[in-house]
Amino acid sequence: MEKSIRSTGDYWTKLLICALILLTTQVHCHFNPRINVTFLDNAVSTGAVCLDGSPAGYHYEKGYGTGADNWLVYLPGGAWCGSKGDCLARTKTIGGTTVNVTTTWFGGILSADSLVNPDLYNWHRTFIRYCDGASFMADVEAVDPETNLHLRGARIFRAVVDVLLAKGMKNAKNIILAGNSAGGLATILNCDRFRALVPNASRVKCLSDSGFFIRAQNLPGVEKREKGFADVVAFHDITKFLPKSCTSRMDPSLCMFPEYLVGDVQTPLFLLHSAFDQYQIQYNLKPYPAIEQGWKECTSNTRLCTPAQIDFMKEFRTTFLQTLKAIPDCPSRGMFINSCYIHDFLFSRARWNYQGPPSLGNKIIERVIGDWYFERCSAKAIDAETDHPLNCFDA
Ligand SMILES: *[C@@H]1O[C@H](CO)[C@@H](O)[C@H](O)[C@H]1NC(C)=O
Ligand SMILES: *[C@@H]1O[C@H](CO)[C@@H](O)[C@H](O)[C@H]1NC(C)=O
Ligand SMILES: *[C@@H]1O[C@H](CO)[C@@H](O)[C@H](O)[C@H]1NC(C)=O
Repeated sequence: MEKSIRSTGDYWTKLLICALILLTTQVHCHFNPRINVTFLDNAVSTGAVCLDGSPAGYHYEKGYGTGADNWLVYLPGGAWCGSKGDCLARTKTIGGTTVNVTTTWFGGILSADSLVNPDLYNWHRTFIRYCDGASFMADVEAVDPETNLHLRGARIFRAVVDVLLAKGMKNAKNIILAGNSAGGLATILNCDRFRALVPNASRVKCLSDSGFFIRAQNLPGVEKREKGFADVVAFHDITKFLPKSCTSRMDPSLCMFPEYLVGDVQTPLFLLHSAFDQYQIQYNLKPYPAIEQGWKECTSNTRLCTPAQIDFMKEFRTTFLQTLKAIPDCPSRGMFINSCYIHDFLFSRARWNYQGPPSLGNKIIERVIGDWYFERCSAKAIDAETDHPLNCFDA
């Protein structure tokens, strides 16, 4: 028998309650935010390996009760690598290897706490490790003998999904593929392919958090943004895995920009994002020469920005919203676009439970997404009022 803890207290309070329940009732306590890694059994022999050749892995917590037939598959973020040097450097980090990986934190959308995560806390929840550097998209058999780099993101994704299918996902009723940042892009890129792997599930939907990286041809730095993705497409040789709906009408090196993908995704998709996306403003924009001075400090702390620098951020927001608006609308698509100066919402309690503009009946993000997923009510909201970056999560 399993039981979830319903307590508003902090982590240690819950741990204490868990310990007491265990001691007094022998009931399995379900509050365990650090989850061990599982490596794929035959990862090395089947080649489902990270950049450095180490085995692919995932973290999994079993569903129960009303969640027993429901699965969440989560793809974390961690940018990309698009050259030999970048990918080699990446093998020294958790973005390129599973050497030294033991546990990961299950917070926010992965949380087992029904207060933090009321719709999904008792689902089967899986975190697939991101160690390929190309949003789970590559499958190159050849290994460069000089670098020993393995380019196998798509193979990892497929191999872990096969394990999950065998574990019971093949009989699932409800499934969510979710991810943030590079994982949010991976969610958009892999959404329909994933849907095809679970034909018997009655409801499969994709949730992309902070994965809408815009090309923004009108804003400085466009060469850098285009080259960033073009390098990933070329180095990992992923053209054949990109959606044909895009590669058939434009240069495939542009087909990692979600603005050319989202309109063709057939599976219901939710876009959770800030129009003042901190990552894109900080790393993908190039400031005009007149506002270059202090840009680094300003993008780390918006209180240090000059009015001209804030105006530049507003230009980004305008372009971001126009780019979204240009995509043909579709009733099954959900959207929640706020103005927090932030990147990533899914993974922490504060962000997953954030409640602020835009307000959909004063609901927290978790509730808005639950309403979209279960079709309880429509979930499409863009903060049209706040035209400056908000510091939503300051203490
Ligand atoms: C996680 O791994 C540690 C170290 O190997 C082990 O002691 C612990 O029992 C594992 N936890 C679970 C829930 O399997
Ligand atoms: C793994 O841990 C060892 C021992 O702390 C360290 O020397 C090594 O650099 C780590 N490797 C990676 C890829 O993190
Ligand atoms: C879907 O369900 C049918 C009928 O129960 C079964 O034969 C088939 O193997 C299932 N497909 C998958 C991919 O699980």
